[in-house]
This record gives sequence, structure tokens and C-alpha cells, in this order.
Amino acid sequence: MKVVCIGAGYVGSVTGTALAANGHQTTVVDIDPDKIDRLNRGESPIYEPGMDTLVPELIGKSLFATSSYDPVADAEVVFIAVGTPSGADGSADLRYIKATAEQIGKRLSSDHFTVIAMKSTVPVGTAELVTTLLAETSGLTAETHFTVVSNPEFLREGYALEDVFFPDRIVIGSVHPQGLQQMRQLYQSFISREGYERLTPHFTFTYDLNAPRANYFETDTKSAELIKYASNAFLAVKISYINELARLCEVIGGNVQDIAAGMGLDSRIGHKFLQVSSGWSGSCFPKDTSEILSTSEKYGSELMVVKAAVESNERMHMYVVEKLIRRLKSLNGKRIGILGLSFKPNTDDARKTQASFIIDKLLERGALVQVHDPQGMGMFRALNPDLPIEYCHDPIQTGRLADAVVLLTHWQEYREIDWQKLASLMRQPYVLDTRNFLNPNEIQKAKIHYEGMGVSEHLLSPDGVIGQ
Ligand code: UDX
Repeated sequence: MKVVCIGAGYVGSVTGTALAANGHQTTVVDIDPDKIDRLNRGESPIYEPGMDTLVPELIGKSLFATSSYDPVADAEVVFIAVGTPSGADGSADLRYIKATAEQIGKRLSSDHFTVIAMKSTVPVGTAELVTTLLAETSGLTAETHFTVVSNPEFLREGYALEDVFFPDRIVIGSVHPQGLQQMRQLYQSFISREGYERLTPHFTFTYDLNAPRANYFETDTKSAELIKYASNAFLAVKISYINELARLCEVIGGNVQDIAAGMGLDSRIGHKFLQVSSGWSGSCFPKDTSEILSTSEKYGSELMVVKAAVESNERMHMYVVEKLIRRLKSLNGKRIGILGLSFKPNTDDARKTQASFIIDKLLERGALVQVHDPQGMGMFRALNPDLPIEYCHDPIQTGRLADAVVLLTHWQEYREIDWQKLASLMRQPYVLDTRNFLNPNEIQKAKIHYEGMGVSEHLLSPDGVIGQ
């Protein structure tokens, strides 16, 4: 099929690449010439494992990139995958969506039926709004010449290709027969065994071809829009809940790792998203919880559980600072090493992460901060140009004259740290592992005082491992 994907950001570039890999003639459109040039040079415009392999293979064959909206005129499906940042009141700012709708409207043709698919995470009712804008700018009749469907993305950064090719679910919000038919045709190769087989050589990960197919779920447009928010808010609640249990364990005893494992054995609860942390962050959870809260309040039906999860999450960021204060008495003049600035491993995304919150609080209390992240330092520095912190190119250097080293992001390479060497650099050998990710035994062997989250030290297993 002929597809246009508007937006070469995270969602658009991954979606466009996946559609092209499935044999669709896909053009990615973005107003940022830098992103388009990168794609045309065969480079991924974003850091995401696997994209560097797929983009050069596909560009110029089934994947095209341009700053012109003209390919919209021939497209059968046009994806809108532009940003929806949080506005001042917490609700999603739709200015990019509206500008995109206007550009699409100017090019819609009455020669053929066009499906406009909303990939961006948008508030309930946005498909309706876009329908009105398209009708106004194109002069065409909605549902006769075009339809707007909701098709939310569920990509996790760091695993986006895996999620786009082997999704748990594909959700389509539409009641328009032709809209539904064109979306089924588009996604046919994603959900057929043949599609899986053709794509498998592109991946670095393995997939069980006998695994059940993705759930292809059709519903009305508003429900599809809500499914995205409802899912992300639910996951945020789940993490906030285990983090609160971690805090409880620290005062009454118990091991949050075992509690998560025990709870997860109930198939109604499941093991996922019960891993303790310094709180959730990233480009989706804060924005999406804020939007759904603001919408629910606007309609007088506040999601109280989500509100509590958001408050609990900030409390969790602060809890890390409090733990440091408990150990070091005062932070004034203390040197703190931070391992991890990105909101999770395998991404360079350092926007609004727990690291920036925690670092701000440390600096406010007079601490000196030195940081490391395998991928996130560039973005973090660009977003916080005036922050008086030191960037270390080697994780070991975060220990230099430090009174504490705090692991915030569980990058695999932090498991390989030479703790003896790090200990030799530290002023006070103390490691706070907010993800219970490191091996306490190895760290203790290096004569470093190890502290995890939600687990009393006397509950460590003989090999010192507290997480799976
Ligand atoms: C999320 C959703 O998972 C994805 O479906 C949606 O499309 C976009 O938002 P993402 O933001 O990439 O994806 O990251 P995710 O892996 O969900 O993690 C979000 C945050 O929760 C991170 O800060 C992560 O470290 C934290 N987290 C996750 C925990 O603290 N504990 C967990 O058990 C899981």
C-alpha cells in the first residue's frame, strides 16, 4: 500500500520503518530537514537498537523521506505521528496535530479514499477534531472521501522494533467499513505468519514463530484513544504501588523483591512492572498520566487512583534523596556520583527523567554531582546546559572522591563495573542501588557499603543477589 507517515520522531520513524519493512511504499515526512537528511543518508534519526540496521536496508527501496507533504495526495493511509507535549495545564498541546491536519487537508484528493490514522497519543475526541479540520481545509466530505481512525502506539523505547513487529495488540478505533478494511490490509503482514517469517532475518532478537499472533482489536474511536491512556496510567499505578511497598518494607522489614515475585505468581497480577525504582519517568508516563488526569477532572470524573500514583512517584524520587541524607547526615559539600541519566536503559532519552529531579534536589542541598550515562549524557546536557554538574566518560569516574554512588538507571554495563577500582577512588565507599540491579556481594567484597531499595540488609541471600 502507499503510506505516508508524518513525523520522523520516535514514533513516526519506527512506525514508518516497520511499514516499509513490511513491503508498504512508505514516505516519512518531517519539517526538520536534519531528520530527513539523516534518513536519506541511511541513518536512523533516533537512537533505538535495530534502527541502524533496518533504515539503510530500506531507504530508497520502500522507505522514503521528504520535507514535502505532497506524497499525501496519493497515499491510501496517512499516519499522524507528531508530538503532543504537555501544555501548561497538564493537558496535551495539540498545536502540531492541528498544523499537520491542515497540511494533510490541503492535499487530500477526491480520486481515492484516504484513511488518516492517529498514531500520536491524543486526548479523547481528537479524531473528531481532526475530522472537522480535514473537512474544512480539504472541502471534501468526511466518511465519503476520507476517515480518521485511531491507532495508538504501544512502543517501549529500547524495544520499539520488537514491539512494532511483534506487538501484544494492534488497536484500531473506527466504525467505518472502508477504514477498517484498509487498516486490516495494512497490518496483514504484521499479523500473518508469512509476515513474521519474512521479517525475522532483520532482527537481532529471536521470536517463537509458534507464539500466538498479535491480538487485532477493533473498537470505536474514543475507546481506542482511551485504551492508550488507560494502559499507561495503569502501568504507572502498578510501579508506584510496588515502590510504596518498598518504602513500607524498609520500615517494617520484608523484601520487596520477594513480595513482587510472590505477587507476580498470581496470573491476574503478573510479574511485569513490579520492579522497584526511584520512580517512573520518560516521555510517556508523566505526559499521559497528566493528560488523563486533566481530562478526567475537566469532565468531573477524576481518576483518583492515577492522581495518587503521580504523587507517590514524586515521593519516590525524593525518597532517594532522603536515603542519602540518612546515610551521609548532610549533603552539603558531599560529592555524589550518579549512574544513569536516561529514564531507562537502551535509550538516550533523558527528558524529564528521575535523574533531573534527584540531581536538582542534591544541588539544592549543596552536594557536588558527577554523572555518567552510556547514551543519555548528550541529551541531558543539551536540556540542562546550566546545571553545575560534571560529566564522566567512564562510570568508574563517578566514584572519584565521592561520598556515595547512586545507580538510577540499570544499564547492563553497570553490572561490569570494577568495584575494587571504584572503591579505591571513593572518599566514603557507599553505593545506593535504586533498582536492586547490582550484585551486593561483589560490591561488599570491594568493602563498599551497599544499599538497595525495599530490602533489609540481613535479608540478602548468601550469594548477595536480591533481584532476578
Ligand atoms: C511506555 C509503555 O510501556 C509503552 O507501551 C508506551 O507506548 C509508551 O510508554 P516507555 O516510556 O518506553 O514505554 O518505557 P517503559 O519501559 O514502560 O518504562 C517507563 C518507566 O517506568 C521507566 O522509567 C522505567 O524505568 C520505569 N519502570 C518500569 C519501573 O520503575 N519499574 C518497572 O517494573 C517497569
